[in-house]
Amino acid sequence: MTGGGDCPGLNAVIRAIVRKAERHYGDSVIGFLDGWRGVLEGEFIELDVASMRGTLPRGGTVLGTSRMSPRMREDGVEHVRAAVESAGADALIVIGGEGTLSAGAGVNDAGAAKVVGVPKTIDNDIGLTEQTFGFDTAVGIATAAIDRLHTTAESHDRVMVVEVMGRHVGHIATWAGIAGGATLTLIPEEPFDIEAAVEAIARRHQRGRWASIVVVAEGARPKEGTMALPEPEIDEFGHVRLGGIGHAVAAEIEARTGYDTRVTVLGHIQRGGTPSAFDRVLCSWYGVAAIDAVHDGDWGSMVAYQGGEMVRVRLADAVAELKPVSPALYDVAKTFFP
Ligand code: F6P
Repeated sequence: MTGGGDCPGLNAVIRAIVRKAERHYGDSVIGFLDGWRGVLEGEFIELDVASMRGTLPRGGTVLGTSRMSPRMREDGVEHVRAAVESAGADALIVIGGEGTLSAGAGVNDAGAAKVVGVPKTIDNDIGLTEQTFGFDTAVGIATAAIDRLHTTAESHDRVMVVEVMGRHVGHIATWAGIAGGATLTLIPEEPFDIEAAVEAIARRHQRGRWASIVVVAEGARPKEGTMALPEPEIDEFGHVRLGGIGHAVAAEIEARTGYDTRVTVLGHIQRGGTPSAFDRVLCSWYGVAAIDAVHDGDWGSMVAYQGGEMVRVRLADAVAELKPVSPALYDVAKTFFP
């Protein structure tokens, strides 16, 4: 099953699982639909090598996804146990981000299903793996957008604020900010001082550089009491709907400097469409490693990418804490701040 926000490469993982399961182990594979919803309600489809043909480069997920979780239903774990049993499934491969994988760890620990996890999210915030799949694609999309914004910013002598995804951590912002040559990059890990940001942009102008790119992670926050922000909306799953920090930062920059400032919110463009070559390889590796973990009976494990190798870690350990941006890497971004 695939749960949470979608991500480029989900189909590539499923395809790899199905391929090795069917051709190497002689398994039959089913896919539960729409994340935990399908597991809770026992809704699934048969998957085989033929039905997965052509899906390697296709974004999204052939199984659908949702933010539903067993924790949201009374006796959720018991529904999972019943659905998995009645489907005749020996194991459940859970492909998801922090929320989906935590629920997977819970289901495994309760003995309701034998679970193996695969870390998905463009945010790259899952612990104990250097890279979640989808992240490389998202960084590529954000960098290409920043490259394009440079030329229009320079033509008009404008400040361009680019808001990228990154709910709790600023991996996409940091990588795309460095790769795209951003003037400033603001991330959730380090609350920003808007006055210092504005002064940095002004310093750059005094040096005759009229155009600036400011990359802002959607979860970035100003230092306590320094800047007013609109109240965030909460969706039907209790998930805070982020977005808006880019507009707030741009308004402050324009008001405090008088420089013409525009905003681009990249939003779901970062999540849609085809996975990068790196993500296609990583996903294929994750998928193969996940079905191998199933056949080794390594329940409650998550496949993880560490030091160029595929390893297994405990699912519960991987979701215990989100992985922040390395301060050393953020220092690289800061080296280029004015
Ligand atoms: O968790 C991944 C992510 O892409 C976040 O960066 C973003 O805040 C969130 O999903 C938005 O998801 P949706 O709009 O689908 O609820």
